[in-house]
Amino acid sequence: MSREGAWLVACAPMARGTFIALEGLDGSGTSTQAEMLFEALTGRGHTVVTTHEPSRGSIGQRARAMLGGGDGQVDPHLLALLFAADRLDHIAREVEPALARGEIVVCDRYVMSSWAYQSLDCDAQWVETINARAPWPDATFLLRVGAEEATRRVHARTPESQREIFETEAIQRRVEASYEAALARGLPGVVAIDGTRSIADVSEALLQACDALGL
Ligand code: TMP
Repeated sequence: MSREGAWLVACAPMARGTFIALEGLDGSGTSTQAEMLFEALTGRGHTVVTTHEPSRGSIGQRARAMLGGGDGQVDPHLLALLFAADRLDHIAREVEPALARGEIVVCDRYVMSSWAYQSLDCDAQWVETINARAPWPDATFLLRVGAEEATRRVHARTPESQREIFETEAIQRRVEASYEAALARGLPGVVAIDGTRSIADVSEALLQACDALGL
């Protein structure tokens, strides 16, 4: 490359990274698959950041504490606002800086979780409005596992005393219907993945979906 060419490359604006969200019921495998995606995309030479919502920030920790139900009655509107506020905080602190550095961000749960879970007890349009300032991801991979199977997995790994407020089969059935409604909207970048297959097969399907993003 000529000296002029090298100078142009050095001065070219950094290409923006890719923002991937993983979604699904509790027990659908989003956390496991986020780690697998990190390994696979790193193996392809990308710089990858895995993160999750609720985030590790102070607002996210508050939301997580409420999910434990330990404070007594949980106000669903307060919880919805905490998730939405945590999201903007998380975007500003972790997601946007990584995307600006040209990295891939794999986020375990994002806006669609709020749509699916908070609209069970709050007006769906209001939930959408309070999340409207969160940037839409380049890809949203919805791991589809039925409520019965997802709950069986959660109950097998978590003793009853440690389960969070949404981890019952009755609630997961309603969450499943919410996710299906979100999927039916045909929003940009939303891809359904069969999450009932083996961990390796689901990971392979996610990687194929990443191929389509040019990753
Ligand atoms: P997880 O970290 O095991 O996925 O648990 C997070 C829980 O929080 C899960 O039950 C989904 C719920 N949740 C919401 O209800 N709304 C949200 O916006 C997010 C990010 C999570």
